[in-house]
Amino acid sequence: MECYTILLFCLTLLNNIAARDTITSLQSINDSETIVSASEIFALGFFSPHNSENRYLGIWYQKFPAETAVWVANRDNPLTDSSGVLKFSENGILVLLNHNNSVIWSSNTTRLVQNPIAKLLDSGNFIVQDSSKSDPNEEFLWQSFDYPSDSILPGQKFGRNLITGLNRYLTSWNSSDDPSHGKYTYQVDVVGFPQIVLREGNAKRFRLGSWNGIYFSGGPQMKQNTIFTFKFVSNEKEAYFLFEPVNSSFLHRLVLTSDGLIEGRHWRGVNKDWTLTAKIPLDDCDQYAKCGAYASCNIEDIPVCSCLEGFVTEKKDIYGDCIRRTSLTCNKDGFLKFSRKKLPDTGKSWFNRDISVEDCRILCKNNCSCTAYAASDISKGASGCLHWYDKLVDMKEFAESDDDIYIRMAGTELRKMEENTEKDTNAINEHHREDPDLPLFDMPTITSATNNFSTGNILGEGGFGLVFKGILEDGREIAVKRLSLNSSQGIPEFKNEVMHIAKLQHRNIVRLLGCCFHGGERLLIYEFMPNKSLDYFIFDGKKDKLLDWSMRLDIINGIARGILYLHQDSRHRIVHRDLKAANILLDNEMNPKISDFGLARSFGGNGTEANTQHVVGTYGYLSPEYIIDGEYSTKSDVFSFGVLVLEIISGKRNRGFYHQEHRFNLLGHAWRLFTEGKCHELVDETIRDSFNICSVTRSIHVGLLCVQVSQDERPNMSSVVLMLSSEFPLPQPKEPGFYTERDPLHHTSSSSSSKPFSTNDITITTLDAR
Ligand SMILES: *[C@@H]1O[C@H](CO)[C@@H](O)[C@H](O)[C@H]1NC(C)=O
Ligand SMILES: *[C@@H]1O[C@H](CO)[C@@H](O)[C@H](O)[C@H]1NC(C)=O
Ligand SMILES: *[C@@H]1O[C@H](CO)[C@@H](O)[C@H](O)[C@H]1NC(C)=O
Ligand SMILES: *[C@@H]1O[C@H](CO)[C@@H](O)[C@H](O)[C@H]1NC(C)=O
Ligand SMILES: *[C@@H]1O[C@H](CO)[C@@H](O)[C@H](O)[C@H]1NC(C)=O
Ligand SMILES: *[C@@H]1O[C@H](CO)[C@@H](O)[C@H](O)[C@H]1NC(C)=O
Ligand SMILES: *[C@@H]1O[C@H](CO)[C@@H](O)[C@H](O)[C@H]1NC(C)=O
Ligand SMILES: *[C@@H]1O[C@H](CO)[C@@H](O)[C@H](O)[C@H]1NC(C)=O
Ligand SMILES: *[C@@H]1O[C@H](CO)[C@@H](O)[C@H](O)[C@H]1NC(C)=O
Ligand SMILES: *[C@@H]1O[C@H](CO)[C@@H](O)[C@H](O)[C@H]1NC(C)=O
Ligand SMILES: *[C@@H]1O[C@H](CO)[C@@H](O)[C@H](O)[C@H]1NC(C)=O
Repeated sequence: MECYTILLFCLTLLNNIAARDTITSLQSINDSETIVSASEIFALGFFSPHNSENRYLGIWYQKFPAETAVWVANRDNPLTDSSGVLKFSENGILVLLNHNNSVIWSSNTTRLVQNPIAKLLDSGNFIVQDSSKSDPNEEFLWQSFDYPSDSILPGQKFGRNLITGLNRYLTSWNSSDDPSHGKYTYQVDVVGFPQIVLREGNAKRFRLGSWNGIYFSGGPQMKQNTIFTFKFVSNEKEAYFLFEPVNSSFLHRLVLTSDGLIEGRHWRGVNKDWTLTAKIPLDDCDQYAKCGAYASCNIEDIPVCSCLEGFVTEKKDIYGDCIRRTSLTCNKDGFLKFSRKKLPDTGKSWFNRDISVEDCRILCKNNCSCTAYAASDISKGASGCLHWYDKLVDMKEFAESDDDIYIRMAGTELRKMEENTEKDTNAINEHHREDPDLPLFDMPTITSATNNFSTGNILGEGGFGLVFKGILEDGREIAVKRLSLNSSQGIPEFKNEVMHIAKLQHRNIVRLLGCCFHGGERLLIYEFMPNKSLDYFIFDGKKDKLLDWSMRLDIINGIARGILYLHQDSRHRIVHRDLKAANILLDNEMNPKISDFGLARSFGGNGTEANTQHVVGTYGYLSPEYIIDGEYSTKSDVFSFGVLVLEIISGKRNRGFYHQEHRFNLLGHAWRLFTEGKCHELVDETIRDSFNICSVTRSIHVGLLCVQVSQDERPNMSSVVLMLSSEFPLPQPKEPGFYTERDPLHHTSSSSSSKPFSTNDITITTLDAR
């Protein structure tokens, strides 16, 4: 009613005589009729644009027919008179016929049915259905939403079906009087990482950019929008954008205008006009590649273009490409982080949503043609991987952007920048966190040393990959830890291990000889330990007799010195966090060497305590405060060491320990025997004739002090080393931590069972602190 005047005006354009809501196979609609959706929002019929006499089949807002039609069927084949008829052909396809019954447009339904029915849904979607199926959720045989003109409506998918190849994109009208295909298109590009691009002909004019999980990189303003909710779905099957109004009583549409603007408009009710809610491109900096490669556009600067840090322009051409101040050297390159930028064109990018950003960095670093990397999704913290393999173009400054990009830089350039740290710069130089100088082995060397990673060379399986034995051409024996490319879980641990262990030099710490990167594979090369690991001997009913008491005592002392070095002597205080028998390797003289620094943490200066949400380590060796509160410190290592001492003496695992007379675990058992003065009963039966009761008792005593519930009652490692090598009196131990619980995390163990439950001492990395 409120549109009465508009309707009068429109009657000159539309001969609305009759209205109906469907057509069936026996019916047709002619130029005097329209189909109206049940909610009366949309209408379908024949119309003429403003200054044109051509007739088109289209969909418009029932109340606002003067508005441009939201969909047009025969865009390029106008009817020149009012003779048009829309009906089903004999084989069930919708056809639009002209005066001499020639088909000027048709729905290309692929599945044909006996009794098709066409109707206009409340959403503005004109659909063809099988009338014998009344299920409204049934897939449509055809729908106008799949063939958009210049507009998208709420709930309409804009983008691609990657399986069928269907591409739902917008093409502008040639002019406001002419719905024929104009020169602008707006579509979801799926070459490289999906992004939305506006083109004039084949030339890119504007990039809304790639989706970062929250908004399109070129439209951070979308975050603040309160009118729409939207999503972007991108997987192996589909890549599409879809929006819904927050208040569905408003009418909304997005239009690609004939002069190449994307406009969002909505109608808020009576006596008002369509309100413009969005309009892009917005400013000069939205113009595609306004600035050259490696430059960024900032609309508030004069001139708007400037080279990224570390890049310069050769000529005085401010819109030209910028070039590196220092050329890349591949292996010695690092990355510089840039924030608050629209990510560059992803047309030549590579992406993988399933790998971590750390993995992404390593992959990029190892491929010299990779120019930059970024997280592909920042909605739940940074995740996924995006790589660029070309010049970086079309970057824009956005104060409200959350995107970070890491651009490859020469190491010397990064150091130069580091020296100029007084400068207030938003770039964070990460170079000093790079892999330290470690010998790099090449893949062929390692392949031939390990007999092509043959199964016969497998030494064992660590937390994050297989370990192979190898012999270098010079005869040196090595152990090669191979982290599988797909174990994304291992990437941080790998970096961590390289970072920590490369700096360590101690006779009780295993030596890292170098590393090797190859096509995303990461390998660590260690000195070879011929006598495997401690667990291989002490928990084995046959081999345990090979380790007599004096060897065991030497091993305990060696481990203690190794941990002391980690905690106090090394430049970076390190908490190992996964000390266990399997991580103590033995050299040819049975000297213990601590290995596997995948979970280690360093405390640069004084700090010896930290907190984590994720408790990592191995059941049976974890201290109470760590399991309960996620709190770890050097004292958590002391606890693990205490467990190790008692395991070495007894030849029994703490986890899975079983005794017929009580429910204590190994710690409780040792404490009980200690208080009863029966320390000799704890000693591994196979070495009962070799031991010295005094040193055994003292070792058990020290072990029990190390596993005290309270961190403060545990000695530090320098005290432990001293206690083990001297004879001064020691404080009395109290009850150890977790001494009754066999498995502190699973309280299901049954005491009636006569078998010890399984002894699985695989390192866990995903356990949450409780
Ligand atoms: C259009 O269809 C209506 C209803 O079927 C009919 O009354 C009318 O005569 C038709 N007009 C023309 C021009 O065919
Ligand atoms: C139908 O009419 C068009 C002109 O409107 C003409 O070009 C075409 O040849 C005609 N076709 C037939 C089959 O008469
Ligand atoms: C369906 O029709 C559209 C235009 O109406 C055309 O672009 C497309 O190629 C057709 N698809 C098939 C499978 O015929
Ligand atoms: C689009 O409009 C231009 C003039 O504005 C005209 O030359 C051209 O033929 C039109 N294209 C079509 C497909 O009608
Ligand atoms: C939607 O807008 C109408 C008209 O302004 C208003 O009456 C209604 O409360 C709004 N609904 C919501 C959910 O905001
Ligand atoms: C680097 O990446 C490019 C692009 O993905 C690829 O073609 C090339 O083989 C890679 N090079 C190496 C050494 O992996
Ligand atoms: C190593 O193994 C790979 C795959 O199993 C094979 O393609 C390659 O030829 C082998 N190389 C050598 C030197 O045996
Ligand atoms: C890695 O890939 C290999 C071979 O495709 C597969 O056997 C293995 O289970 C995968 N590992 C992980 C952690 O996904
Ligand atoms: C340890 O390794 C050396 C050298 O391989 C070997 O001679 C020795 O027997 C091994 N010791 C044990 C206890 O296996
Ligand atoms: C030392 O450690 C404490 C607690 O971990 C911390 O609050 C303090 O800032 C640290 N001091 C220095 C100089 O690092
Ligand atoms: C270790 O503990 C002893 C005894 O409590 C103390 O004297 C010493 O300062 C501690 N060492 C370190 C490095 O904390």
